[in-house]
Amino acid sequence: MRNKALSVLGLLALMLVLAACAPNATQSSLDPAGPTAQAEKDLFVPVFWTAVAVFVIVEGGIVLIAVKYRRKKGRDRMPPQMHGNTRLEIGWTILPAVVLAVVMVPTVGLIWDLARAPAPDALHVTVKGYQWWWGYQYTDQDMVTSADKPLEVADVLVIPEDREVYLSLESDGGLIVNDDPYKTDYQVIHSFWAPRLFGKQDVVPGRTNHILFSADEPGVYTGQCAEFCGLEHARMKFRIEVLSAADWAAWVANEKLGGADSADALAAKGQELFMNPLSDGRGSCTACHAIGGTDAGAIAGPNLTHFAADTHSCFAGCNWETSDIEALKAWLRDPEAVKLGAKMPNYQLTDDEIDALVAYLYTLK
Ligand code: CUA
Repeated sequence: MRNKALSVLGLLALMLVLAACAPNATQSSLDPAGPTAQAEKDLFVPVFWTAVAVFVIVEGGIVLIAVKYRRKKGRDRMPPQMHGNTRLEIGWTILPAVVLAVVMVPTVGLIWDLARAPAPDALHVTVKGYQWWWGYQYTDQDMVTSADKPLEVADVLVIPEDREVYLSLESDGGLIVNDDPYKTDYQVIHSFWAPRLFGKQDVVPGRTNHILFSADEPGVYTGQCAEFCGLEHARMKFRIEVLSAADWAAWVANEKLGGADSADALAAKGQELFMNPLSDGRGSCTACHAIGGTDAGAIAGPNLTHFAADTHSCFAGCNWETSDIEALKAWLRDPEAVKLGAKMPNYQLTDDEIDALVAYLYTLK
């Protein structure tokens, strides 16, 4: 009986250890890719080992005493009892306080350091948490379209390497405002976290939090919402694509352009469908989405101006690759069926309408 219980316990422990293994973990705080994440790791490691030392000393002491004074056969009498040891008690009160005070010095120092003002040449981006995807608005004066609107992208935040980025975090989508039919989403608390670049920061309705970070190397870094925010919290993912200086300049130049009219007949039909109300009062894509250079300018859903750009590698909370045409079709057919609770309505699109819309979306580079 006892052996069985022990082996079950051992098996559970083994499963727990194995569950921690991942051959290609892309979201490890222990593998920092920028100075903010590096500073956080440099604080975490010594605090971790301090905690390990405390754990071993305290737990070791408990186990040692439990074993040494356990009840043995033929020795049934109580060991000598004692009460109170002033020196010991003062010692184990002061020692933890000293340990905490020592740990506090670098911790508070880093908190202040990460809350510093951004460098003069920092890139400013407002991050907006919706249910359940992330939108990004570039707020620097030179980051505007030819129509003088700030550049906006969804799902994938694109930044240059080695440049400080100052994020302003907002829970957006707005409350339902009477005179603004486009503000129909819900404000809830999210948390923005890309472990290899920076630690978590809450995204709270009614206030603006900040993250200051930069990335050392070009590449794609994954992140996700880290605060329960409703049904699809676990699928509120995002990517941060870091570009070299040359790629960044090209990206910005392209983003400033609007979506062009397509020469392809199917795509033109899709554009027609997108820009106008659907038949039988089924609604319109333009009720929620914006496409630069067109009349579509709503902000309740992701900005689709460059939906098919290489950098926009995933959509709908980064749950699907943009290049996955079947996933895109399934999403248009019935968003709720693939992402329960999705705010995008099911417009009862026909297969022909879906084909045309997909053709149009893929012209939006
Ligand atoms: Cu947004 Cu969890």
